[in-house]
Amino acid sequence: NEIYLQGYGGTKPAFSTDPTRLEASAAELLAPEPFWYVAGAAGSGATARANREAFDRWRIVPRMLTDATERDLSTSVLGTTMPAPVLLAPVGVQSIVHADAEPATARAAAGLGLPMVLSTASSTSIEDVAAASGSGPRWFQLYWPNDPDVCGSILCRAKRAGYSVLVVTLDTWTLAWRPCDLDAGYLPFLHGEGMAVPFSDPVFRSRLDTSPEEDTPSAVLRWISMVTGTDRAWDALPFLREHWDGPIVLKGIQHVDDARRAVAAGMDGIVVSNHGGRQVDGAIAALDALPEIATAVGDRIEVLFDSGVRTGADVLKALALGARAVLLGRPYVYGLAHGGEDGVRHVLRSVLADFDLTMGLSGHRTVAELGAATLRRAG
Ligand code: FNR
Repeated sequence: NEIYLQGYGGTKPAFSTDPTRLEASAAELLAPEPFWYVAGAAGSGATARANREAFDRWRIVPRMLTDATERDLSTSVLGTTMPAPVLLAPVGVQSIVHADAEPATARAAAGLGLPMVLSTASSTSIEDVAAASGSGPRWFQLYWPNDPDVCGSILCRAKRAGYSVLVVTLDTWTLAWRPCDLDAGYLPFLHGEGMAVPFSDPVFRSRLDTSPEEDTPSAVLRWISMVTGTDRAWDALPFLREHWDGPIVLKGIQHVDDARRAVAAGMDGIVVSNHGGRQVDGAIAALDALPEIATAVGDRIEVLFDSGVRTGADVLKALALGARAVLLGRPYVYGLAHGGEDGVRHVLRSVLADFDLTMGLSGHRTVAELGAATLRRAG
């Protein structure tokens, strides 16, 4: 509201409130390698583009005289209450866009009461990000190491540090064909960025001949060999249950049968996501996968959504198509790049304000009022 009223009153914000312009200025601000690591996608970028185009095929049908002056956008997902159904998607190696990295993101998220999902590929340790997040809600995302003891140790640390929900990313058991990053040689990573979680882990360290401080490149390669190259099957999930006593969410679900299997496996939630178009080029737009999945399992499991959410209208559309909440990816990373904690806060507040206004102007007071009747398919 403050950003809105300031803009209304002639005060320019420090950074653009438009996600496309913010991406454009991030391209000028950052070196090409980090910028393209964030902005890039798999292959030709077809799925990343499709994610956006899918939102455009749905239009909101506003209702009038619904007394929507006062709105309550709060919701609760898997025991976490939030002022609006928006979470920060797990994004690794945030130090490549701003030195303040994940702790800055954690402070901005906590200040607004929005849950941050911390990536296993964080550039700051689980414990340090938890300290920055304070009493803010926090979830932990797992890239699943094929060494069970290392995996168990990381989960135990996350639990002890107050992360309440485990998000297991299934779509990245190995990195996709990403031309931008291949051309850049993935250089930032080989220098040890994004390795804070394993490097601070006693069990991982015990697997090395020398400490990561003495030989970073070989420690990085050891870690990469633990978290990439091993796909799993549905019967592997009980391992996670044994090592995590809170809710578990599977991220990267795109097929309705996989959503049903998640229910059958006793999972608590799923994220309908194609990783922002960064894994399977040519994959279905995430929003196109959402309605069928939400209809099939939405009454038995929490259905979350990400990939392509940029505006308040996008949030509204995803919720109307059956998502309980959405995760925001690239936009807040551009905010971080522009202004650390302030930049992340600016982007989050902008999305929240835009969502709030779109809800009100389309005649909705609560997220429970959204549904199939809210939208019409264009064309
Ligand atoms: C990601 N994403 C991601 N996902 C995950 O589970 N673990 C991770 O470490 C990362 N890292 C990561 C880095 C960067 C730079 C990006 C852009 C994305 C995927 C992320 O959680 C989410 O699925 C997408 O970003 C959502 O799409 P949008 O909002 O970026 O279009």
